[in-house]
Amino acid sequence: MLKKSVEDALNKQINAEMYSSYLYLAMSAYMESVSMKGFARWLRVQAKEELGHALKFYDYVIEAGGTVRLAAIEAPKTTWKSAGGVFDQVLAHEKKVTGLINGIMDTAVKEKDYATQNFLGWFVKEQVEEEANATEIVAQIEIIGDIPGHLFCLDRELGKRE
Ligand code: FEO
Repeated sequence: MLKKSVEDALNKQINAEMYSSYLYLAMSAYMESVSMKGFARWLRVQAKEELGHALKFYDYVIEAGGTVRLAAIEAPKTTWKSAGGVFDQVLAHEKKVTGLINGIMDTAVKEKDYATQNFLGWFVKEQVEEEANATEIVAQIEIIGDIPGHLFCLDRELGKRE
């Protein structure tokens, strides 16, 4: 049985992961609108991954004997200034998510909930990868600057994401 504080934190994270999915889908739509299909594809794949994260939390709450409580998902913004602006926000968002995962871990530690700590281990590791991926793309966009040809090459590269 999950303690109430852990169950609440896990339910909040289902919502946060759904919001991440929504945010990346909104970013993907923006990149489509400026004809950068590769960036759009990368973000769309990321949106799907985030939905998978939400479902991992969802499945765990049920398996651990808790109650899933779904809440309204906040609407993300719809426009950005540039690909650089989008990926700066991706990185900032992933850092925020890392903080949220750490916060749930703190609650699980406080409640001596070893099963939830073990479950969260996957996410702790995943966040290292998520931040590293976003950091790399932000750095690549910074190096490229405003050279359209180079941005086009990066767009093609990111479009290869499966
Ligand atoms: Fe589910 Fe990108 O964190």
